[in-house]
Amino acid sequence: MKRNGLTLVALLFTSIFGLMHCKKSTGTGFEHAIMRPWFDKNCQSCHGSGGSNSRNWSYNPDDYESSIKKHASHIYEVVYTQKSMPPAGLTQNELEQFKAWYDAGYPVK
Ligand code: HEC
Repeated sequence: MKRNGLTLVALLFTSIFGLMHCKKSTGTGFEHAIMRPWFDKNCQSCHGSGGSNSRNWSYNPDDYESSIKKHASHIYEVVYTQKSMPPAGLTQNELEQFKAWYDAGYPVK
């Protein structure tokens, strides 16, 4: 019985450290209340993992730094300056949401 208890504790620690390690290696999650659903709706289908255009720019909301922050000015370019992304276009309200978020320094949440 005692042995089982110890094994359980050991297992628990292994899983906790495993999880902590995972979280660290995938970066900070993108949690912005407006822009997370905005990107999910407008960009995910083509640029999400396994999407047909994830090679041009890969949208990974689990890794804010490498997916969004690092490409912020490029994203601004195609979304706001050229208005070429998403190909179907955005509503005026969506464009304004994007601009406000970008001007605020594209916060993670
Ligand atoms: C319907 C599919 C589709 C959706 C939705 C979409 N894209 Fe794209 N995206 C593409 C395609 C196709 C290309 C490659 C276009 C090209 O090379 O001219 C591309 C290219 C890009 C590029 C790289 C452009 C370059 O200059 O290399 C960026 C950045 C980008 N998209 C951002 C976005 C963002 C941000 C969104 C959401 C607001 C979005 N895309 C939504 C299909 C899509």
